[in-house]
Amino acid sequence: YWNLNKQIKGNEFALVIQEAASEIKMGNTIAFPTETVYGLGADATSTEAVSKIFQAKGRPADNPLIVHISNKNQLQGLVDSVTDKANQIMDRFWPGPLTMILPLKKEAKLSKKVTAGLDTVAVRMPDHPIALKLIEQANRPIAAPSANRSGKPSPTEAKHVKEDLDGRIKGLIDGGETGVGIESTVIQIKEDYIYILRPGSITKSQLQEITPFVEFSYEKEVPDKSLNHEQIPRSPGIKYKHYAPNGSLTIIKGENKQKVMLTIQSAIDEAKGRGEKTGILTFIEREKDYDADLVIAYGSQSRIDEAAHDLYAALRMFDENKITTIFAEGCSEEGIGLAVMNRLRKASGNQVVQV
Ligand code: TXA
Ligand code: MG
Repeated sequence: YWNLNKQIKGNEFALVIQEAASEIKMGNTIAFPTETVYGLGADATSTEAVSKIFQAKGRPADNPLIVHISNKNQLQGLVDSVTDKANQIMDRFWPGPLTMILPLKKEAKLSKKVTAGLDTVAVRMPDHPIALKLIEQANRPIAAPSANRSGKPSPTEAKHVKEDLDGRIKGLIDGGETGVGIESTVIQIKEDYIYILRPGSITKSQLQEITPFVEFSYEKEVPDKSLNHEQIPRSPGIKYKHYAPNGSLTIIKGENKQKVMLTIQSAIDEAKGRGEKTGILTFIEREKDYDADLVIAYGSQSRIDEAAHDLYAALRMFDENKITTIFAEGCSEEGIGLAVMNRLRKASGNQVVQV
């Protein structure tokens, strides 16, 4: 366990990175911060190393991993060629919270476990000094899913990683709270289209600066009728239940905040009557107006990036306090809010009520 909180240069930084990188080279797992969430990294070229990731997380073997690189040159070992459009996207958004699904090279220097046998590989260049330096020093691509036990919210602080994986991993670099707070946007380019397989902080409208043809391609609560292209790409991870808190979670959405509030409070009162331990996820604007065993505000409703930053820590807090019934106020689906609602929907098992 190394602490580099707020330390991103100097002797100690260099020393820690060197030690962690040598563990990666020896085939061990190291958890490290990225700008989105903490990742659990291992040498992507070694099947033995990558197996340790699946084992530590309890992750199903058919769910492929993202390969993290620090330099575009590392793409040469992974993919045959990169199209102009793909290049344009990388140059615009890397390093950053964008993962690209690319055609896998036949003789790629990559463990087959990383791609779960698919003919594509997910690649991303994280925008974090610790992650970038670690990859550079390890001198090889690092496979890294989020550093949580499978089914838990992704870790946005080192202590979340410890809660989930203590004793199951070789090391952890504490780099403080992660910035974005939810996982990267995952995209795949097919012919003229960019498909968004997982929404994140890089939004559809940002991608539309590259091409107007950007489509969502993941399961929403209502099937999107506009998606009738052949062979729409999907992300295997989508089918697993994710981010679930231990208590039951219901999301209440609506324009009329007074109505949202009354609906939540009366449902909470009813749950209390049944002997449930109750929790509410709201915004600072209404935090004081609610009555429950635990009320958490995930930022201000007018700054949805705060909701993204705080969401997973909040879900973990409900668990820590053994809350059995949670009601959450949905957020606006503008910008990164779409990704926040996507994660909340999953966490609730799609229990979304519009009022
Ligand atoms: O922000 C992030 O992306 C974080 C940090 C650590 O980089 N990583 C992350 O990894 O969220 P993970 O494993 O939790 O999510 C990876 C997602 C999964 O939904 C997986 O199914 C999908 O990417 N994926 C990986 N390879 C794929 C492929 N070849 N085709 C389609 N989807 C793929
Ligand atoms: Mg994950």
